[in-house]
Amino acid sequence: MESLSKTKIENAMASHISRFDGQNLRYNFLKKDEFIRIPGFLPESITNQLLEILPKVEPYVHRSYLPRHKSGGSVSRFNLEHYAPLFTEVYFSRSSLDLFSQITDSKLFTCPPNDAHAYALYLYTQKGDHIGFHYDTSYYSEARYTALIGLEDDSSCKLECELYTKMHGAKTVMESIKLMPGELVFFNGDKVRHRVTPSGANERRVALTMEYVTSTKMSPYLRFVSDMKDAIAYFGFAEVWKRLIRRKL
Ligand SMILES: [Fe+2]
Repeated sequence: MESLSKTKIENAMASHISRFDGQNLRYNFLKKDEFIRIPGFLPESITNQLLEILPKVEPYVHRSYLPRHKSGGSVSRFNLEHYAPLFTEVYFSRSSLDLFSQITDSKLFTCPPNDAHAYALYLYTQKGDHIGFHYDTSYYSEARYTALIGLEDDSSCKLECELYTKMHGAKTVMESIKLMPGELVFFNGDKVRHRVTPSGANERRVALTMEYVTSTKMSPYLRFVSDMKDAIAYFGFAEVWKRLIRRKL
């Protein structure tokens, strides 16, 4: 497939995303405790090209295992921007950032360049790969929103999201999702409790995660906590060192 130039990528994103009604999406997002699912969010041409460049980053997958909580592979934003910069274009897409800002009714920002988790790939390729229930807690000073985009799913894994868990008096509702290629799930990380159920043998699931925030400020203590969490649970210490070097530049 012919590779798409930077301008063509944004044009393809803009023309595709213009079909979504931001106000209607916001209504549904609020109704579901700041959670929304948008099938076909990415243009098919871009989904296909992301799938085509996946093999370029597979040598940089870092596998981590936390007993009883998590097992799986991750590729940090540093490796994506170096080896597969189309992911960077998708993360920084102006049209998708504008749509996310409409959905949240907030001015959203991309995360700073030293944040390895700003956007990343999660790969489940071994039996039992999963992540247990958790919130995507914001270590930034304000809200953090998670955008998950499906890329490959030849697995029995389900993304299970619990809504209304922090709403006083409300009954928790579960959304069980098979994340299809190009599909988006977008939610407030501090509100939506979620997990991915374990994969079986010879299964494969790849998803892109992207993080957007209403403030890029983070205290030095929480930056340290966030760095340690990313090093241990996702990308390894080598990636954290890259980030520390980058912060001094
Ligand atoms: Fe999460």
